[in-house]
Formats: sequence, C-alpha cells, structure tokens
Amino acid sequence: MIQQPSPTVTVPTFQKPVTLKQGDAVLIRTARISEVEDIRALFEEEVRAGRMLPRSPHEMRAHINDWLVAEEDGAVIGCVSLVFFNDELCELRSLAVAPEQQGRGLGLALIGAAVELARLRGMRRVLSLTRAVELFERAGFRRDFLANFPQKVWRDCRPCPLRHRCDEVALIYYLDNPPSTAATGGNGKHV
Ligand SMILES: CC(C)(COP(=O)(O)OP(=O)(O)OC[C@H]1O[C@@H](n2cnc3c(N)ncnc32)[C@H](O)[C@@H]1OP(=O)(O)O)[C@@H](O)C(=O)NCCC(=O)NCCS
Repeated sequence: MIQQPSPTVTVPTFQKPVTLKQGDAVLIRTARISEVEDIRALFEEEVRAGRMLPRSPHEMRAHINDWLVAEEDGAVIGCVSLVFFNDELCELRSLAVAPEQQGRGLGLALIGAAVELARLRGMRRVLSLTRAVELFERAGFRRDFLANFPQKVWRDCRPCPLRHRCDEVALIYYLDNPPSTAATGGNGKHV
C-alpha cells in the first residue's frame, strides 16, 4: 500500500509587542528551537538552587510552540511556558526574566501573554504554583488549594524531593466565569 504523506499541522505562532513600565517596547513571541539553550540559561541558576523545576531540552524542543520568549534587540530576555493537563486546564510554568532585566515589567507582561496563549488554545483555567504570589495576583490570578489539582500533584509533586517542605502557593486564573462560592463548598475546595 502506498503510504500517504501525513498532513502538515501548522500551529499559529504567537506574537505580541508590549510596552513596559518605562515605555520600552519588547516583543513577546513563540520561541524557536534554536533558542532552547538561551531559554534554559534564563532559569538554570533557579533550578540549581532548587527554586524551579528543570526542563529537558528534548521536551522543550518537542513542545516549542508552548514556549513564549520576550525579545529585545535580538536577545532572549525572558520566558514562560504552558503545560497542558487536559482540554481545559493548563499550567503556567518556567516563568523567568534575566536578572539584569528584572523590575521592568517583563514578568507581568509574560504572564499576560501566557494567559492570552491559553485563551487562544481554548483553555478555561490556568494554574500556577509559585512563590511570587503578589505578582500573579496582580495579573488576575487568585489563590486556590493544590488539592484541587490532582493532575499537578500526581505528575510533578509526588516525585518532587521538596514535597514535604513545599512553600509554593497554588493560584488559578479563570478564562471564563469563576465558580461561585456555593460551588466550592464554602471551603475553597471544588465539589
Ligand atoms: C519572578 C520574575 C519572573 C519577575 O519578573 P520581573 O520582570 O522582575 O517582574 P515585573 O517587573 O513584571 O514585576 C511586576 C511587579 O511584581 C513585583 N514582583 C516581581 N517579582 C516578584 C516576586 N518574586 N514576588 C512578589 N512580587 C514580585 C515587582 O516588585 C513589581 O512590582 P512594582 O511594579 O510595584 O515594582 C523574576 O523575578 C524572575 O525571573 N525570578 C526568578 C525566577 C522565578 O522566581 N520565577 C517565578 C516562578 S513561577
């Protein structure tokens, strides 16, 4: 039998010019495979210090369209990624800004772009597990309970060596209407 070539699936790339606090313009766009090592360099120190989860270059290349970078003068100065759990819930992960670029508004801009990307992919909720709680709250996330996200717990928390002394907070962004208080059983746990 003659093998038919499989149809090429084209994922639209994300591209968004943003203006930072001081009026500087940067571009937030889909990452390129050639940028994988530049991206890893942005958070390798955090990984070494046990503050961020490592990401393998192989896995990054395979899911490169789920990574966004901030580019200025041809350099990659920030990154963020989405990890998809199912057809409505994804996690914002690996947010990092180059140390010398922090405080310019890039972190907030990258979170906003990742939320937009999640919306374009048809997601309903974006999860983040972070210590930068105020930053995420400022971006519209609200605190939740990790126990509400068994997908995350089973995949990443159970094998994590820091699971018994985890100081990260679960936050969620609703792309459509958040559940009413009644729907969370009054204690924040979804019922
Ligand atoms: C967290 C990080 C991405 C923030 O990037 P940034 O570009 O400095 O953030 P912004 O400039 O957009 O900050 C926006 C506001 O959030 C605040 N903020 C920044 N980082 C924060 C943090 N870790 N915790 C709480 N608030 C924070 C800033 O003070 C700023 O407030 P201001 O406008 O009143 O000055 C950056 O510090 C970083 O890469 N840290 C190392 C990796 C990391 O911790 N990633 C997050 C894991 S989820």
